[in-house]
Amino acid sequence: MEQTIAVLGAGTMGHGIAQLLAQSGSRVYLYDPSEEALERAMQKIRSNVAVIRSERWGDCPSEDQVLDRIVCTPDPVEAVAGASIVIEAAPEKLELKRELYRLIERGIRADAIVASNTSSYVPEQLVEGMTFAHRFVVAHFFNPAHLVPLVEIVLHPQTSRQTAEPLIRLLKTCGKSPVVLSANVAGFIANRLQAALLREAVHLLESGVASAREIDLAVTEGPGLRWALSGPLATADYGGLDVWERVSDRLFPELDTRTEASESIRRLVRGQRLGVKSGGGFFEYPDGEANGATHGLPDGVQDAVEQRDRKLIRLMMVKNDTRTGGGAQ
Ligand SMILES: NC(=O)c1ccc[n+]([C@@H]2O[C@H](COP(=O)([O-])OP(=O)(O)OC[C@H]3O[C@@H](n4cnc5c(N)ncnc54)[C@H](O)[C@@H]3O)[C@@H](O)[C@H]2O)c1
Repeated sequence: MEQTIAVLGAGTMGHGIAQLLAQSGSRVYLYDPSEEALERAMQKIRSNVAVIRSERWGDCPSEDQVLDRIVCTPDPVEAVAGASIVIEAAPEKLELKRELYRLIERGIRADAIVASNTSSYVPEQLVEGMTFAHRFVVAHFFNPAHLVPLVEIVLHPQTSRQTAEPLIRLLKTCGKSPVVLSANVAGFIANRLQAALLREAVHLLESGVASAREIDLAVTEGPGLRWALSGPLATADYGGLDVWERVSDRLFPELDTRTEASESIRRLVRGQRLGVKSGGGFFEYPDGEANGATHGLPDGVQDAVEQRDRKLIRLMMVKNDTRTGGGAQ
């Protein structure tokens, strides 16, 4: 049955979430205070869908069919009025998010589930004192949201698993893999693991053990490949836990334990080397020069993003053995 969903914020994450839901048959109301952001979102959705279709990934409807299911609006109250699920993907500023919730509080359906795509705030902080706190979760998608299957779900202490079930079901219908946390921790699961790996990678770089390229290759040509199939715990099972017991005893004292960003990242940031979006970071991205925005990437970077998306799709098709089509993932 067609559901009506509201997505609040049409930036990097919001447009991908809106696309994902529309692709799977929902009617989506997409709110953004910026008309330009809404226009850009619709253009990006059109090209994202074209990529998925040209890669023959699942049974994706046509560009026009997907866009026809999305209603853009500059009015948040209109966006949420008929929605059974509201997904907020507004900028990561606590007061801005809370102000948005206050705006929609009286307009949302009494049974609507409200989810935030926040990367860092806990549910209690976001909706303290709001009437829908007992129907609130964090639903943390990963960029690109229309492709990466993982969505981490963190329940507000007043929200039961049963209440969140329609959202979890919807995500599964869209081909996502929701992971529900049993306790609320900063960074949830995936970003904690990524941060631990980044800390050690930068430590190796700073210690002169290898170049940035060699360090990245050691991941993409090694454990990174395996991690798509078995996570760190299953990987330890395969290696043998007796082996990992000894490795842990020997290696853990050697690993980096710093408690703040490394000096080399600080130096790069001070020098405006912010990564792909500024033309360089640990590596060079000449086509990204002079671009300071988080979206609206210049052509060269846009091409690189499209190539990355195509490779991600092909990887997922091989991983899930859906190369011959049939099923979203
Ligand atoms: N970018 C990522 O990789 C990533 C990954 C996971 C989670 N997140 C989280 O998703 C959320 C959105 O991040 P993003 O990267 O899409 O940001 P973004 O800056 O790309 O997009 C934010 C959008 O929100 C709009 N906006 C501004 N004020 C608003 C308001 N009052 N109400 C609704 N929309 C408003 C902006 O016009 C913009 O289009 C943040 O909470 C972020 O932490 C981001």
